[in-house]
Amino acid sequence: MPPSENNVINAATRLCAVFGSPVRHSASPAMQNAAFAALALNWRYVACEVDPKNLREAIAGAKAMNFAGINLTVPHKLLAVDMVDVLDASAKKWGAVNTILFSEQGATGFNTDADAIVTSLREDLKVELRGARVLLLGAGGAGRTAALKLAAENVAELFLVNRTPSKAEEIAGEIKRQFPGANVAVGYPREDMDLVLNATSLGLKPADPSPLDENLFSLKRARAVYDMIYRPAETALLAAAKQAGCRTANGLGMLLHQGAKAFEIWTGQAAPLDVMRRALVENIYGGPKS
Ligand code: ATR
Repeated sequence: MPPSENNVINAATRLCAVFGSPVRHSASPAMQNAAFAALALNWRYVACEVDPKNLREAIAGAKAMNFAGINLTVPHKLLAVDMVDVLDASAKKWGAVNTILFSEQGATGFNTDADAIVTSLREDLKVELRGARVLLLGAGGAGRTAALKLAAENVAELFLVNRTPSKAEEIAGEIKRQFPGANVAVGYPREDMDLVLNATSLGLKPADPSPLDENLFSLKRARAVYDMIYRPAETALLAAAKQAGCRTANGLGMLLHQGAKAFEIWTGQAAPLDVMRRALVENIYGGPKS
């Protein structure tokens, strides 16, 4: 069978990429290329290992080569804020850029991560954040975006826990400045929680322990537990949460929705969510998973 025109990389092919370090395990190429194929777009998405010291040049290079857009992943999201021509309101608000669109306006930086958290929590855990009591673990880049977004969504109470408490204090201070009415505290809560959200990197290695100290907060007091980690599919935290009877979900939905929004920003077309989710599951878990 002759390859259809859209299967061929030719002079009309539009390019997108993810820049990261390390980036070798990124599932974004599988997700985005599946979406391009589903919509018969002659577009391709590749992963580029970019050292932080070369990020500015890499972004300028992609712009000069007429790339359609790029994603940024660890450790580039904060650095890129100062490397774009225009900051979309989303990037200004969350202080991080994970998506760049190249157009006549130059390079515009967006943040599609923050909305993806809310969409995934609603879709995968049926958690509505307004009025919810939330314990957030982690105060790095992902934790900071999550904490600010949770405050913006009007959670009733937000507890921040981090190995280095000063970083959680810093975020709590920022939340109080941006959202003066927010009820935010550093440390483990005494009361029951609607949601425990892990934004630490503890759990990425299969032998990692849970980031939650169950002596200070028992999972029996949580209704739902979300782990931003999606590889492995079940971290020690999620396994313990299931045991305790909590509703659980991993971060696959967040990865999906940040990518879907980026796809829409670049192509102007609705993202084929089912196709993208299937591609992620196959790429990450090696086959369909319920
Ligand atoms: P990301 O961009 O994924 O958020 P990061 O900014 O490096 O990455 O943040 C990593 C988060 O995981 C931090 O909250 C970190 O805690 P510290 O602020 O104390 O460094 C947390 N973390 C990483 N390794 C950890 C470990 N072994 N135990 C507990 N927390 C850990």
